[in-house]
Amino acid sequence: MEASGGVNNNKKVCVTGAGGFVASWLVKLLLSKGYFVHGTVREPGSPKYEHLLKLEKASENLTLLKADILDYESVYSAIVGCSAVFHVASPVPSTVVPNPEVEVIEPAVKGTANVLEACLKANVERVVFVSSVAAVAINPNLPKDKAIDESCWSDKDYCKNTKN
Ligand SMILES: NC(=O)c1ccc[n+]([C@@H]2O[C@H](COP(=O)([O-])OP(=O)(O)OC[C@H]3O[C@@H](n4cnc5c(N)ncnc54)[C@H](OP(=O)(O)O)[C@@H]3O)[C@@H](O)[C@H]2O)c1
Repeated sequence: MEASGGVNNNKKVCVTGAGGFVASWLVKLLLSKGYFVHGTVREPGSPKYEHLLKLEKASENLTLLKADILDYESVYSAIVGCSAVFHVASPVPSTVVPNPEVEVIEPAVKGTANVLEACLKANVERVVFVSSVAAVAINPNLPKDKAIDESCWSDKDYCKNTKN
């Protein structure tokens, strides 16, 4: 995606959940490489996004847009016109939640489906989905001597039983 010389003045990209831990570093990197960044946030104006506004080039090249990944129209509005989308937004509870199916899995899956559908409709050239080691590594039957790769998946029942 990078043009020669590392300048990406014509490239507009979207980062979902821009204020989160991983996404904030990504926004910083993209701005440093000259991209125009659409960052989605759920509560525009909240102090929790102030660090983004202080990033180098943020005043010229970063636009924060209100979007909830569970609201398709808000996602589409943030994505349209972008050549790439980095989907990072996801519920990431810091403690064990009472009903993970409803509080974590459903919104993560529905939110990702909304983002992918919006990318398709908006003719986005490239989508990068940030997953987690939790998707592949929580499985007591993984061979100890084998590198974890795309053939490996966490064991759903084991995850449920261990509240992972
Ligand atoms: N942290 C790590 O070391 C690490 C490593 C590998 C993978 N990951 C993965 O990277 C992703 C982000 O992790 P993180 O640690 O950066 O989490 P985080 O700091 O909690 O950030 C999550 C972001 O998701 C947004 N979000 C949650 N639900 C949303 C919804 N319904 N609509 C729109 N935005 C929503 C939040 O937005 P608002 O702030 O606007 O509410 C928040 O900014 C997760 O999938 C995680 O599994 C993280």
